[in-house]
Amino acid sequence: MTQDSARDKPQAPAPEGEAKLWGGRFSEPTDAFVERFTASVEFDQRLYREDIQGSQAHARMLAKVGVLTDAEAEQILQGLDAIRDEIAAGEFEWQIGREDVHMNIEARLIERIGDVGKKLHTGRSRNDQVATDIRLWLRAAIDDILALIRGYQRGLVDLAEREAATVMPGFTHLQTAQPVTFGHHMLAWYEMLERDARRLVDCRARVNVLPLGAAALAGTPYPLDREYTAELLGFDGVTRNSLDAVSDRDFAIEFTAAAATLMMHLSRQAEELILWTSAQFAFIDLPDRYCTGSSIMPQKKNPDVPELVRGKTGRVYGHLMSLLTLMKGQPLAYNKDNQEDKEPLFDTVDTLLGSLRAFADMVPNLEVRAENTLAATTKGFATATDLADYLVGRGVAFRDAHEVVGRAVRVAQERGVDLAELPLSDLQAISEAVGDDVYTVLTPEGSAAARNLTGGTAPEQVLRQVAAAREHLAGMLD
Ligand code: ARG
Repeated sequence: MTQDSARDKPQAPAPEGEAKLWGGRFSEPTDAFVERFTASVEFDQRLYREDIQGSQAHARMLAKVGVLTDAEAEQILQGLDAIRDEIAAGEFEWQIGREDVHMNIEARLIERIGDVGKKLHTGRSRNDQVATDIRLWLRAAIDDILALIRGYQRGLVDLAEREAATVMPGFTHLQTAQPVTFGHHMLAWYEMLERDARRLVDCRARVNVLPLGAAALAGTPYPLDREYTAELLGFDGVTRNSLDAVSDRDFAIEFTAAAATLMMHLSRQAEELILWTSAQFAFIDLPDRYCTGSSIMPQKKNPDVPELVRGKTGRVYGHLMSLLTLMKGQPLAYNKDNQEDKEPLFDTVDTLLGSLRAFADMVPNLEVRAENTLAATTKGFATATDLADYLVGRGVAFRDAHEVVGRAVRVAQERGVDLAELPLSDLQAISEAVGDDVYTVLTPEGSAAARNLTGGTAPEQVLRQVAAAREHLAGMLD
């Protein structure tokens, strides 16, 4: 599970005088500040399950190729199982002097099972180990995110069906443009999410490759069976170049770019929800359980959740920029800079999971105030294009029709009425092509229903897209 973290546990220093796992060539102990400054255990302990999973696969593979005996591998596997239980139970003492999650677990293994534990790191480096851990962790995170996206999409489809014929103003430049249906608007959000999901699926394929075997940077002389390790860990294949495998974090960048795009979409949706809940629009009501009040103004019901999602989008953009900048100056192969990949990545995933979870429940449960959305479409001359199209149908060239309708709008505006409220004689004075059937195209419902082509806003099209989306989502494994 990607969500749980043991990072609220206090960090103990390593037992007094404990030698570093890498300490052989050093003549003085690490400065206490440097020890804290370079340590990552405070945040990378979140990778403990993946670290143990990777170590267990490595140990099994070492036994398969004869580097370990079966009995040695068995001891290591059991020791690691016990450590996983200790950590899950909150009984593991994370030590800052042991630097990171990898060395904390390895040192504890040696404490528990003795010298056999010292053989686990054969043919491996923390460089390929950490790259493996992050890939395993991110793969699981992507799966969790995809499941939430699919759930949100299902909710949007249900809402679109419910509001397939509900008319509202469509906007360009935030000025009333033409009538659209609420369901059509929800399906626009659905499409954004569909592309976001596909970006994540593409990214997952590049995440799901095994780096173990690259060792520190050049590979290892042990006869490792990398394909076997990959199979044990559910990777689709193994990396082809050891220098690249330990050093690049482009998969994390790619993920964060997809995440930033997804947040951009959620932020746009948030912005509309916020506008629509205002007294000036009054298009929708959000469920009370997603809103908060004001300590001074009794009438307030604030859309905090969409506001926060809009605000959190900036964090994810920031993480993308951090990761891009983290990589840009690094010579091959591994550099300690890469330790800085984790916090942005973890926070990106947490932000996405939280935002999606909120939207997946909040949006499908919103209530549309259909009387207000309809009333709003009769303001702002939303059917002006329909009148022009009507005239075209009666032989007027579109440019001329556009001009004539512009004059009709001016007359209506002067009188403070909608186009549909102008008497027939006035409309006929503007163009003799107007007949008494003109009023059918001047209603918002008629206008929306007329846009009955693939991708159009007509209720019939919305229901067609709803059916297609349901079929698509039914084929999703999440
Ligand atoms: N904590 C390190 C990281 O997150 C693990 C790899 C360290 N490798 C090294 N050679 N110092 O990247």
